[in-house]
Amino acid sequence: MSGHGTPIPMTSRPCGPLTGEANVPGDKSISHRSLILGAMAVGETRITGLLEGEDVLDTAKAMRAFGAEVINHGSGEWSVHGVGVGGFAEPDHVIDCGNSGTGVRLIMGAMATSPVTVTFTGDASLNGRPMGRVTDPLALFGTQTVGRQGGRLPMTLVGAVDPLPVRYVVPVPSAQVKSAVLLAGLNAPGQTVVIEKEATRDHTERMLKGFGAELTVEDTDEGRVITLTGQPELKPQDIIVPRDPSSAAFPVCAAIITPGSDVLVPNIGLNPTRAGLFTTLQEMGADLVFENMREEGGEPVADLRAKFSPNLKGIVVPPARAASMIDEYPVLSIVASFARGVTDMQGVKELRVKESDRIDAMAKGLRAAGVSVDEGEDWWKVTGLGHGNVPGGVTVASVLDHRIAMAFMVMGMATQKPMTVDDGSPIATSFPIFETLMGRLGAQLVRNNT
Ligand code: S3P
Repeated sequence: MSGHGTPIPMTSRPCGPLTGEANVPGDKSISHRSLILGAMAVGETRITGLLEGEDVLDTAKAMRAFGAEVINHGSGEWSVHGVGVGGFAEPDHVIDCGNSGTGVRLIMGAMATSPVTVTFTGDASLNGRPMGRVTDPLALFGTQTVGRQGGRLPMTLVGAVDPLPVRYVVPVPSAQVKSAVLLAGLNAPGQTVVIEKEATRDHTERMLKGFGAELTVEDTDEGRVITLTGQPELKPQDIIVPRDPSSAAFPVCAAIITPGSDVLVPNIGLNPTRAGLFTTLQEMGADLVFENMREEGGEPVADLRAKFSPNLKGIVVPPARAASMIDEYPVLSIVASFARGVTDMQGVKELRVKESDRIDAMAKGLRAAGVSVDEGEDWWKVTGLGHGNVPGGVTVASVLDHRIAMAFMVMGMATQKPMTVDDGSPIATSFPIFETLMGRLGAQLVRNNT
């Protein structure tokens, strides 16, 4: 199945050492937010290092449909002339967010308190994902919604004409839900309060402050309490997007499992709400070194060196760490296959409602490749076979999920026999240069139909 045109089967063959620099693309979360907040500011926001993956390009198109002027100056340089908080025009066509849950959920929040009616849709993966987690809190502002059974897209939202401020305790650990409520709160009078029991990525809070909104964050017994004062005039910003730690995860994990490798990933964002994978890999015995730690544009950044790590061991990954590495479990499960012993990943129910059910997709592919996996609703365990012992040699389904496709391509670099995914086209949603970048490091990736 493909929602991205013709499926592109892709094979990764066992390869020699991976060496060199991996300049991974800009952070997906920060790229979406740069465009959306830029569109809600008054004046010109300039963005350097924007991720030009399909997900973010869909958000750029959407912001144009809401009346912002979004210009691509080439090489990751973009500018956005915003229309101001509450200044969105009503789009004259359906907003298609493609594969992107972040895009659709954040845009729903951003438009929810403006007097516009908007219909949203996406690809087969996105149209199967739950939107009630966002439309439920948006209803508290006065936003009306009509969608398909189970709160699925396509869906129409009627923005609140006289929005009310909201106090909302986020029931699932989700930065998308938190961000949707905060973006809706921008055009509501008074104070909107969002409480999250577990901290999730905080780019929206950091960026709202950067754009001049009045926002406070307090750690209390109830959780992280975020208070936003509505109806600010957002001031345009110059934004440097750090490189995406979730994309860096692929060359880093590939280097760790491929004998002889030594890869440097420069300039990656190391926001603590995103860096759980690296802590986990170090606990497993991976050879990772952070060089040149610094701060850029309000986000911690470093250069990360990853080397082949011959003595990996299985560990327990605690539930408290899940939010800080939620997108990295697929590729972690690949590293776990090459470790000795069991890697037990706990408190990860959210993986079941990502671009695919990621526990199911990885478990099926790993088992086919000769690795034993046990799973429950919110946990899974991978029994590692040790370096050199993972069979591979199968074709697995990527189920419209970029991270599943890339995880299995990484696996094939160190299995005994090649790994194939039935469709590598979803990789373009977040990491359009994946094949070229990995190829330059020494990976052997081929498209089977060319
Ligand atoms: C994101 C939040 C996470 C993550 C997604 C990006 C964001 O989703 O999986 O890739 O940019 O806010 P949830 O909010 O559903 O956990």
